[in-house]
Amino acid sequence: MAPLDDLTGPAIRPRRLRATPALRRMVAETTVEPRQLVLPVFVREGIDSPVAISSMPGVVQHTRDSLKAAVREAAELGLGGVMLFGIPEAKDALGSGALDADGILNVAIADVVAEVGDALTVMSDLCLDEFTDHGHCGVLAEDGRVDNDATLRVYAEMAQAQAAAGVHMVGPSGMMDGQVAVIRDALDLDGHTDVSILAYSAKYASAFYGPFREAVDSSLSGDRRTYQQDPANALEGVREALIDVEEGADIVMVKPALAYLDVLRQVRDAVDVPVAAYNISGEYSMVEAAAAHGWIDREAAILETLTSIRRAGADIVLTYWASEAAHLLKQ
Ligand code: PBG
Repeated sequence: MAPLDDLTGPAIRPRRLRATPALRRMVAETTVEPRQLVLPVFVREGIDSPVAISSMPGVVQHTRDSLKAAVREAAELGLGGVMLFGIPEAKDALGSGALDADGILNVAIADVVAEVGDALTVMSDLCLDEFTDHGHCGVLAEDGRVDNDATLRVYAEMAQAQAAAGVHMVGPSGMMDGQVAVIRDALDLDGHTDVSILAYSAKYASAFYGPFREAVDSSLSGDRRTYQQDPANALEGVREALIDVEEGADIVMVKPALAYLDVLRQVRDAVDVPVAAYNISGEYSMVEAAAAHGWIDREAAILETLTSIRRAGADIVLTYWASEAAHLLKQ
């Protein structure tokens, strides 16, 4: 063996740029800023105080009043927006609570807009699963399948109801074919040409939605595989995003985020509109559960998660940690 005394060591040393916090900060490629974060919030009809969601520690079903306080804080923190989900007292086969001007989601939209005005972008979920007694995202045909075109007519009316309540941006999340085009038409017909559409474009049939089902008291039995996408398919996700842009989507979204970061990157490279990603309930709960056991550093895991989603291509991230992350980022 030759003597090692003459080794000079590597000439190229990437570690140089990692030596101090100032250097690392200067060369960081990806930022996470409060304005890029959207807080999803749940508001439930007929309750007097917020109800904890046991599978999502730290997240609650709001009363109309506690919702106002949460969105005021979100605005003060400089978040990009809030995404509202309503939980009605009574559900039926057609999801009629979604169309009622006095329905929980529509009154909550009006409450939130009155509270924060234009300081936040106020968004609402445009889907029937929170309102149907069978828990599906659309209305059912006689054979029990979700009827695409019948559902589109309900979505059109739902969009008009949400716009009448003052929403800035609707978020169709039901994965019906043609939903963006129909919603755009319905909004324009009512003169709401400035209400924009955040399309859940590449939305996968995911096990990670589990805790959300508790959050919205969903009664779904079975699954959503005839309308949400197969986790095996990335090209199909890109195709869905391109179709939605063609139909008039202002922003397209990939959901879930963490198990689909490759899809997120491919969609970002394929479209010329802002791209959002939804860091969903199961992704939140996994981190919270591991942190509760002391298995991971919670705050570091939150910031790493959000950074990764941004790095993969998301301009906007929907996350239950939005307000907390804004606090952490200010430190
Ligand atoms: C459908 C909808 C779902 C989520 C957002 N919108 C549930 C589903 O498609 O099954 C899930 C969000 C989350 O898990 O955090 N209205």
